[in-house]
Amino acid sequence: MLDAIATREDTAPSDRPRRDGAGEALPLPHLYARVARHVTPAEWPLHAREVAAIERLKRERNAVILGHNYQAPEIFNTVADIVGDSLALAREAVKVEADVIVMAGVHFMAETAKLLNPSKTVLMPDMAAGCSLADSITGADIRLMRQRYPGVPVVTYVNTSAEVKAESDYCCTSGNAAKVVRHVAREWGVDRILMLPDEYLARNVQKQVPEIELIAWKGHCEVHERFTPQDISDLRENHPGVVVLAHPECPPEVVAAADYAGSTADMADYVGREKPGRVVLITECSMADNVAVHHPDIEFVRPCNLCPHMRRITLPGIRRALETMEGAVEIDPALAERARAAVERMIAIR
Ligand code: 13P
Ligand code: SF4
Repeated sequence: MLDAIATREDTAPSDRPRRDGAGEALPLPHLYARVARHVTPAEWPLHAREVAAIERLKRERNAVILGHNYQAPEIFNTVADIVGDSLALAREAVKVEADVIVMAGVHFMAETAKLLNPSKTVLMPDMAAGCSLADSITGADIRLMRQRYPGVPVVTYVNTSAEVKAESDYCCTSGNAAKVVRHVAREWGVDRILMLPDEYLARNVQKQVPEIELIAWKGHCEVHERFTPQDISDLRENHPGVVVLAHPECPPEVVAAADYAGSTADMADYVGREKPGRVVLITECSMADNVAVHHPDIEFVRPCNLCPHMRRITLPGIRRALETMEGAVEIDPALAERARAAVERMIAIR
């Protein structure tokens, strides 16, 4: 797919070959141009070798790679065919025609892709790439919550296991959470909804839907929970005029101190639309690296937290998955049917 990538409208191939320190021309210069801010000329030949091998394997296996916005620049800007936030990846997963999907993201994303493509092979380059939110709740917990709140619909964040989705009425992502809960309240004729498991997402969305009572769980994203309002004050003091964008998995006090809150795609859209001179994304580190590729004139201030799970995905790991076809995600068909229904109900909401 190198040709296809090279002609993607968001990236003009560089007309001058880049050189390493010794004056050697760098391989795949059009791809290097996308990552040159984050990958040194000395590192690039190793990445380029993996990229070339992955592109060959993608053709042989008839595979596509879905890449989340938090993926490292050398994955996100090279081998990933479809990139975006969790909502976009779920929506795009429905349309995939290839036989094999490789998830450059975390395990719940691969499960979601598998739910939507039961007959395809969905490969996870590292099965240990989990998520603190997905780990915070089980299907049994949802059943207990239903006993405690009879008749109250359950909306679960897409950052959950298939087992949890199977116990849910609807899924949501950070990109559509308020829309989903409004829809559910209307359809079910209720004014209370269980919104699980991200406590902060629920509390942030609560401000947008004061007419509905959202009952939360105590799950947190280990990346976003670490940001504090003091971090925002320090950023404003040290970088005058900086526009602060925060992810709604951050604590509500952090979101309140920010200028704008939205999913990873919402943040990228905001930067493209508003073109702030100086901006900081209060989220995972690679996000700013990937957005900055398209906005060389914008100054990105870069305090951020790394997601250790996203970092488990590497170019060699993706190559290995395609070579060996190991790491296929499997979900019990009966459970998958119920989990798929919750995801599909979400996707159907426009
Ligand atoms: P979104 O890309 O949907 O905003 O999700 C953020 C996240 O933390 C995914 O793990
Ligand atoms: Fe999970 Fe947070 Fe990592 Fe996203 S960034 S995968 S929510 S731990």
